[in-house]
Amino acid sequence: SNEAAPRRSRGRAEEPSGPPVQQGADWSSWRTYQSAELGFRNYWYPTVWAHQVGSKPVPITLVGERIVLIREGDKVYGLHDRCPHRGVPLSHGRRQFPGTVSCPYHGWTFGLETGKLCAVITDGPESPICGKTGVATYPVEERLGLLFVYIGDLKPGETPPPVERDIPDELNNNAFVMGGRTDIRRGNWRFAAENGFDEGHAKYLHNTALWRLFKVMPTWNKTRIVEKDGWLIRKQDEVHWEADFPGVGKFTNKRWWKRTPLPDRPGKSDNINPVIADMDLPGFVSIRLPGLLRVAYPHFIHFEWYVPVDADHVRYVQLMVRFESGAKARLFQLKYLAAIRWLFHGQFTQQDAWMVDVMDAPPEKLYRPDLSITAWRKHIEDTAPVVQPTERRPGH
Ligand code: FES
Repeated sequence: SNEAAPRRSRGRAEEPSGPPVQQGADWSSWRTYQSAELGFRNYWYPTVWAHQVGSKPVPITLVGERIVLIREGDKVYGLHDRCPHRGVPLSHGRRQFPGTVSCPYHGWTFGLETGKLCAVITDGPESPICGKTGVATYPVEERLGLLFVYIGDLKPGETPPPVERDIPDELNNNAFVMGGRTDIRRGNWRFAAENGFDEGHAKYLHNTALWRLFKVMPTWNKTRIVEKDGWLIRKQDEVHWEADFPGVGKFTNKRWWKRTPLPDRPGKSDNINPVIADMDLPGFVSIRLPGLLRVAYPHFIHFEWYVPVDADHVRYVQLMVRFESGAKARLFQLKYLAAIRWLFHGQFTQQDAWMVDVMDAPPEKLYRPDLSITAWRKHIEDTAPVVQPTERRPGH
């Protein structure tokens, strides 16, 4: 059923009946969003690191679908993780013949490429059921060290859109990815996405974050929400941003990050655009479907995907990007491993994870800074992506 509230199934005590819910306090103004408890179809989602899938099949849950990832050489395949015979997960299966996986129970054997039942070990070579059934397959691509899985409806022979469609251009060069984290956290993916784009929380929840010591936290004094190229951009100062600033709301930041000689420091170069340095803007935040946040700082960009697992779990995929190479990149990588990974991708976003876990809405009463959240919801209504149904999907 497409119910309003994300399910909270963690043994909360029955609440006494409070005052009646006010009109507008639920999510009925955002019907698509309201029904998207499990996220959207027809997108590529990052899942586990590629190195985590070795010789053993790895089960994952993605937008409510159970999938097994199986490596054969350089390639990783995705299959529905349920044997159609008696429902045993194929992630328990054996790799007996090349290009196949065999269910551990009765030896039904499926082709990794097609998902078709191609042999039944316990029913002889002429088993009549061979070729007549199978499991759904999922396109898998490795990028940035992560396995991206496509969830969508493809007709036979149809190929999915290129994975690059759903990966920012800024990330297309592996060398610029300095590090990252992926972990599964409690709470619905929508809470995680809203938290990332939440106007009000950065200056309060994160007051106690050690990351603040780095003095890179944005200050949200004059802000407005605008949309550009599919990104919702939280612009910090209307006046400053009226110039056609390269990189705003686009998947590219090329000019912004170009090494530009600073006119007032002859002979010196810096990878900070002097415009940005002058403006003293520490960062800006944008978000786009299917749930990808981009926080641009003068020196680096932080990306954060909120990948729906099930109604009550979200996979946080965090990547740190810096446009440097050689010794400078290695130095930053060390800094990432020694500090940023723990302070920012750790303690800082754990504060977010905490709120995403314990919050309980709707009903809700919004205040002025929640404009960012409602802009995101409205963006989804306007874009109308295909909602992943919440009823049990049989794996086609
Ligand atoms: Fe898979 Fe029987 S349950 S082969």
